Amino acid sequence: LRVLSIASEAVPLIKTGGLADVAGALPDAVAPHGVAMTTILPGYPAVTKSLGKAKAIHQWDSLLGEPARLLAGKLGNHPLLVVDSPNLFAREGGPYADLAGRDWGDNWRRFAAFGRAAADVAGGAVKGLAFDLAHAHDWQAAMAPAYMRFAPAGTAIPSVMTIHNMAFQGYYGADIFALMGLPSWAWAIDGVEYHGGVGFLKAGLESASAITTVSPTYAREIRDPAFGMGLEGLIATKGDRVHGIVNGIDPAVWNPETDQHLLQTYSWRSLARRAANKRALEREFHLDQGDGPLFVCVTRLTWQKGIDVLLEVIDHLVGLGGRLALLGAGDPAIEAGLHAAAARHPGRVALRIGYDEALSHRMQGGGDAILVPSRFEPCGLTQLYGLAYGCVPVVAHTGGLADTVVDANLAAINGQAATGVTFHGVTYPSFADAITRTIALYGQRDVWTQMQRTGMKTDFSWKRSGQAYAALYRQLAGAE
Ligand code: ADP
Ligand code: GLC
Repeated sequence: LRVLSIASEAVPLIKTGGLADVAGALPDAVAPHGVAMTTILPGYPAVTKSLGKAKAIHQWDSLLGEPARLLAGKLGNHPLLVVDSPNLFAREGGPYADLAGRDWGDNWRRFAAFGRAAADVAGGAVKGLAFDLAHAHDWQAAMAPAYMRFAPAGTAIPSVMTIHNMAFQGYYGADIFALMGLPSWAWAIDGVEYHGGVGFLKAGLESASAITTVSPTYAREIRDPAFGMGLEGLIATKGDRVHGIVNGIDPAVWNPETDQHLLQTYSWRSLARRAANKRALEREFHLDQGDGPLFVCVTRLTWQKGIDVLLEVIDHLVGLGGRLALLGAGDPAIEAGLHAAAARHPGRVALRIGYDEALSHRMQGGGDAILVPSRFEPCGLTQLYGLAYGCVPVVAHTGGLADTVVDANLAAINGQAATGVTFHGVTYPSFADAITRTIALYGQRDVWTQMQRTGMKTDFSWKRSGQAYAALYRQLAGAE
C-alpha cells in the first residue's frame, strides 16, 4: 500500500514539536505492515539543504501564484518529496514564524500552496508517482484533503486527517477564499467555510475519509467544547470515523541504552548508572546537590502546558527539598516568571530558555521526575520519553497523559503497575499535592525503583500503533 504522508515538519529535518517526532517515525512504524510511505514537506532552507543537488521531478508555473518545483530526496531510509517554492518557504526563521517569533503574515498562502501541491501529487500529477492513500497532519496539511475533494474530477484515493492539536486550526478571513483556487461550491458549511471565514483544519476534517487523533482519551475529549475548541460538533457528527491512535516513540532516537547524548547509557537493569547523568545535569544547571528529587521539565511555554501553574507550585516543590531544571521557550510572560523563580531559589531552580535537542535527552537521562502539567495534551511525548528513561512522569490526567501513565495509587503500587503520578485538574492544590506525593514516593527507594523499572519495561514502541494506522489505511483503500 502506497501512502503519501503530508506534514509541515518531520524529524530529523525540521522540528518545532511532537508532530515532527511522529511524522519522522511514521514511515518506519508502518513499513512492517506492508505500507510504503513517502513524506512530503515544504522546502524550508533546512529541508532543501538536505537534498543536495536534487533534480526537479515536477514543476508548477503557479501554486497560488508562486512558481514551484517538486524535489525528491530521503527522510531517513524512506522517500521524501519537497515542495520547493523559494518565495514561500526559503526564509530565515522557523517554519511558521520569523526569527522574532511572529507568525508569517502569509501563512495561509504558504500552507494552502503546500496542500495544493500535495493534493496534486496524491492525484497522480507526477508521472511515475502513484499513491493509494493520503495522510495529512494538522492544519498546515489540512488543505490537501480539501483540494483533493474539490479537484475538478475529484481525487480518487481516500485520505486520513490526523489532529495533533485542536488548538491550532488555521483560521483566516473570507477574503482569501477567492485566492485559493477552489470552486465556488467549496464555500459551504461542510466545505472550507467556518464562522464566516476559511478554516483549514475544519476543511480537512470535512474532506477526509477518516479522522484520527493521537490518543483515545483526546478522541473522546474533543467532542466536548472545552477541548474541541469550536470543532466539537463536527467531531461528534463524525462518530466512529474518529479514531484515537496513541503515538509511539522512535527507538532509534529515544533509547537510554544507546543514546549518544548521555554521559552514561543504562537500562532498567543498570539504573545505578543514571547517577552520573544526574550529577552532570546538576553541574550543567548549576544546581546544588541534594537528597531530594531533581525534577525536570522540557516544554513549549504556552497556556496548554500549564507552566503558569508550575510557577505557582515551585515554592512548594523547593520547600519539600525538590529541585527543578527547566528547558523551554515561548510566552515571554511565562519566561519572566520562570526567571523570577530561579532568582528566588538559586541552586534549587534553574532554566535554559531556548530549544536544545541534546539537552532534552540529558534531562530525561539524568532527571528523577518529569513534570507535564498540561491543561490538554493530545498525546504528549515527553512523558513517554520519561517512562522509557526512568524519569518518572508527574502528569495532569488528560488526553494522552491519562492514557500512558499509571498513577501510583496503593493498588497500582502493590500490583507493580505504577509508572508515575497523575493529578486531576491543573490547579495549585492538585498539582502541589502531586508534588508532595512524588517526593514521598521518591523517599521510598524500593517503590521508586519499581516505578522506574515498570515504566522502562512498558512497550511504547510504534508496534501497535503502526499496525493500527496500517489497518485503517487498508480498510479505507479497500485493500485486503
Ligand atoms: P508538543 O508537540 O505539544 O510540544 P509533545 O510532548 O508531543 O508536545 O512533543 C514535544 C517535543 O518537543 C518533544 O520531543 C520534546 O522533547 C521537544 N521539546 C519541547 N520543547 C523543547 C525544547 N525547549 N528543547 C528541546 N526539545 C523540546
Ligand atoms: C501536538 C500535541 C502533542 C502530541 C504531538 C504529536 O503537538 O500537542 O500532545 O504529542 O502533537 O502528536
